[in-house]
Amino acid sequence: MGFLSPLVLLLLSAATTAAPADSVRFLGRVNPATKELTWPGTGVAFSFDGASASISVRTTGDNSVNLVIDGGEPIVIANVSGSAITTPAGLSKGRHTVEVRKRSEASFGSIFVGKVSVASGALLPAESTTVAGHSRRSRQIEIIGDSITVGYGLDGVGPSCVNTAAVEDNPRTYAALAAEALDAEYSVVAWSGRGIIRNYMFPVGDTSPIMPELYTRYGANDADGSYKPPSSWQPDAVVINLGTNDFGYVSYYANGTEYDVRPPLSATAYTAAIVQFARNITAKYYPRTQFFLLSSPMLSDSYPSAEDAQHTTQSKALQAAVKQLGSRYAHFVDWPSQGSEVGCDYHPNAATHAAEGKVLASAIAGVLGW
Ligand SMILES: *[C@@H]1O[C@H](CO)[C@@H](O)[C@H](O)[C@H]1NC(C)=O
Ligand SMILES: *[C@@H]1O[C@H](CO)[C@@H](O)[C@H](O)[C@H]1NC(C)=O
Ligand SMILES: *[C@@H]1O[C@H](CO)[C@@H](O)[C@H](O)[C@H]1NC(C)=O
Repeated sequence: MGFLSPLVLLLLSAATTAAPADSVRFLGRVNPATKELTWPGTGVAFSFDGASASISVRTTGDNSVNLVIDGGEPIVIANVSGSAITTPAGLSKGRHTVEVRKRSEASFGSIFVGKVSVASGALLPAESTTVAGHSRRSRQIEIIGDSITVGYGLDGVGPSCVNTAAVEDNPRTYAALAAEALDAEYSVVAWSGRGIIRNYMFPVGDTSPIMPELYTRYGANDADGSYKPPSSWQPDAVVINLGTNDFGYVSYYANGTEYDVRPPLSATAYTAAIVQFARNITAKYYPRTQFFLLSSPMLSDSYPSAEDAQHTTQSKALQAAVKQLGSRYAHFVDWPSQGSEVGCDYHPNAATHAAEGKVLASAIAGVLGW
């Protein structure tokens, strides 16, 4: 700064205190140009000194969020409505941290974030912002997946409950829990029903984008190819949990006959797609990341038949991908077939997610020395 006069310095510092440019921090993959929370787990975090704070929002569709004050128990907003998300009444006047994260996914709706205002006080600079009681973290994890990673039906008692934005619960997925356990920042890029080669078998002939295409978007509703990682985002670990939808092909059994809606997945094509996806991520986004390839708790060795033991087939295909990518850079993590207690439409429930969160955290910690 050298020759700035004391008056200019005073003005500069006054301006910085009054309106810290980055006092509101986005969590997860949020395009700063649109400020649209789309992907599950995206959100905002900030600190303030005052009596209450309010985030002005505009929403489309249905959106469930967690609101966490000072790292406490989350306040669940089952459907964000109105024009603001506000801290609860009765907060003591003083310093507080606020974290909002989407529980639901992009297909249900999005939240456009506007200004954050503070009553009887001011925002604090981003450096003082903590998330869930921790200061800004240097460890970073990105998790790519389908409905399992979204937290589809996680809060429902299944199998026959109806999934809604309110019963999706991304903060309770294995992904979020593993990141929290490792004290890592995380970004979830997930969309229900999507695959790495082909989407879920229903609707039959679905031609909506598969995950490698969606992955190239900044916000989930942005154009293909729009994602450019900010310089602050270079994840140490990228977790890929895809294949559950690709593997499906049996529509139903009746009177001893199997009715298929499409041919079974080729395991070699699946391996090749996982390898190509990981190579694309390394080439275009994160040159130095470690990959963790997860099997699916929704694939079992008894369905559709003992001859087509899908959990084992998928696990072997992922192990083959590890071999092709090199075991210094890629790692297989098993998520065993789930038990009979499930969320909506046979999705893993909170207990199943919690158990796998520990397995994944320990695998990442082992590789990265965390
Ligand atoms: C959620 O809130 C939005 C905005 O107020 C509203 O249009 C929508 O009908 C609500 N959805 C549910 C399921 O209540
Ligand atoms: C199965 O067999 C029963 C008894 O013959 C018949 O009523 C039913 O329609 C059959 N179901 C299908 C899907 O073919
Ligand atoms: C990898 O990148 C190429 C070039 O952009 C693209 O055509 C291909 O679909 C990508 N494949 C995967 C699996 O990501």
